[in-house]
Amino acid sequence: MAEPYTAPENEELLNIVTVGHVDHGKSTVIGRLLADAGALPQGKLEAIRENCRRNSKPFEYAFLLDALHNEQDQGITIDTARCFFKSDKRRYIIIDAPGHIEFLKNMVTGASRAEAALMVIDASRGVEENTRRHGYFLSMLGITQVAVLVNKMDLADYREDVFRSIEAEFTDFLEKIHIAPAAFIPVSGMEGDNIALRSDRTPWYAGPTVLEQMDAFAPVPSPERRPFRMPVQGVYKFTGGGDERRIVAGTLEAGSLRAGARSVFWPSGTKTAVSSLEVFAAPVPEKFTAGQAAGFTMAEQIFIRRGEIACLESENAPFVGVRLRANVFWLGREPLRVGRRYYFKCGTAKVEARPETILRVVDASSLDNVDRDYVDKNEVAELILRLDRPTAFDTAESGCDATRRFVLVDGYEIAGGGIVTQALAAEDYDQRNLRWSAGAMTGEERRAATGRRGLVVWLTGLSGSGKTTIAQETERRLIERGVAAYLLDGDKLRRGLCGDLGFSDEDRAENIRRAAETAGLFADAGLVTLCTFISPFAAGRRKAREIAGEDFLEVWVRASLETCMARDPKKLYQKALDGKIHSFTGIDSPYEEPAAPELILDTETRSEAECVDLLTETILRFLEGDAAL
Ligand code: ADX
Repeated sequence: MAEPYTAPENEELLNIVTVGHVDHGKSTVIGRLLADAGALPQGKLEAIRENCRRNSKPFEYAFLLDALHNEQDQGITIDTARCFFKSDKRRYIIIDAPGHIEFLKNMVTGASRAEAALMVIDASRGVEENTRRHGYFLSMLGITQVAVLVNKMDLADYREDVFRSIEAEFTDFLEKIHIAPAAFIPVSGMEGDNIALRSDRTPWYAGPTVLEQMDAFAPVPSPERRPFRMPVQGVYKFTGGGDERRIVAGTLEAGSLRAGARSVFWPSGTKTAVSSLEVFAAPVPEKFTAGQAAGFTMAEQIFIRRGEIACLESENAPFVGVRLRANVFWLGREPLRVGRRYYFKCGTAKVEARPETILRVVDASSLDNVDRDYVDKNEVAELILRLDRPTAFDTAESGCDATRRFVLVDGYEIAGGGIVTQALAAEDYDQRNLRWSAGAMTGEERRAATGRRGLVVWLTGLSGSGKTTIAQETERRLIERGVAAYLLDGDKLRRGLCGDLGFSDEDRAENIRRAAETAGLFADAGLVTLCTFISPFAAGRRKAREIAGEDFLEVWVRASLETCMARDPKKLYQKALDGKIHSFTGIDSPYEEPAAPELILDTETRSEAECVDLLTETILRFLEGDAAL
């Protein structure tokens, strides 16, 4: 394989993909382009001709690509799928797409890209099903700069009517898939008509040659010339005592940033001025540019959270909404299904999402359309996604690829990559005012307005493990630090709201459901809600997490049964052993240990004070949007 080509700085580079059925003469056209544009190494053409003669094979321009395979440092290099060449105007990477799967995967997930396409159609065969599929595939990838080469015009005697009818038919089709072709060009790869050299056999054609058309394609602006986008990774405090400022940190995906700029964060819409640029253990630059890890302080202490995108007031804003149309490349073991819940991760935002409609499924290797309501591994689908809460993302119009791309996470596994093709309105979301139309305030709005972020801290553990003691002290600490906190205790709830429930498995499940719903509401109101319930069943705790959403910390307050029995603060273990109470957790009812809690507080090895410190610290870090959590 040849080394990937990187253009020297300031040198314009355009990626062009060639598509079309093999029999339609794609390779011949490219071989001819290289030969006629003078891009071939000295003597190459002659050598291949000679080789063909010796093997009694007719010479074909298509052989050029094979022959050039692996040749490097001669002004032209070719590997299996890419060919690098330079016109008078700029450099090109011409990408062939033989393996659709890899190409689609790379394009959809952003690993590679093409800014324009050459579609090759055989004049003697006209527009076939396959051609339409290829057109669709370009539209799906968002490649809108397309030139259609009507090839093998020599076989059609260079007849204008043949060319025009293909042009008319295909233009119609392309229009339907939102592609306005830049040119239809009558060519012959075999004879070299209108490829790099203008042909006198098509006097009726006044348009550009293939090479002229390539040079006429618009370059894509470099990330630096796009609007500023910095997905917020976290907000950090200065470590120095008394310094109240906070640093908003992230990586610049596009654009540039200087101190003094007016920034705006989306989806919250919060605005402030950038006070100073900050960078870890390095001199502070005059400006940050795309690709750099960056930090800045703000003029006002506004509430910003991880997942927002920092933008500039003076530039294009990203879209903020709850519905979008996207192309997704699916890699998951389980098929993607309508209605199923996934995480949509875009920039640093992570939000629950579900496919609302699958518009189309394409088999990535055959490009066949399949009509189904699920998407299998290695398939590409066009679908409508519904997000749980307003999220900021870009579209082709608003101008940043990195925040247009997303991944879908199924459980803990990245199951697909995609690109937003269109932002969509939702009936229940007021797009103009960026809020739910129902009138009720959302948690997001409430947070932005009050600067308070709620959180459910779910302490689970055996009776006597120390949940309540730790939570009581933590509540006090948080309130002293100015964080609104509230303790929701098992015993307290069981006296009131859950007074009708006992300790059977079903009753415990219902107890936890009510507790979780209540905690969710408290958190929504902006309270750090400390919950202390034995919550012995994993299913119940999972349910609690589902109800609370992202703002949930599961804390396992751990002590062995022996220790808890020895402590026995309420003398309940004794009663259970004496058979005076039943279904007591640890005695005659099980405790399922948490598999992946965010924090474990071991009350056998740590003191109460240590546990309180650790918990308070964890909560504060979470509230500050610390990425490390
Ligand atoms: S949970 O299992 O449904 O989560 P929860 O935390 O609300 O339990 O209530 C546990 C408290 O109820 C214990 O701290 C204890 O004081 C009291 N209790 C009374 N009977 C039992 C029992 N059979 N099992 C556990 N706790 C009990």
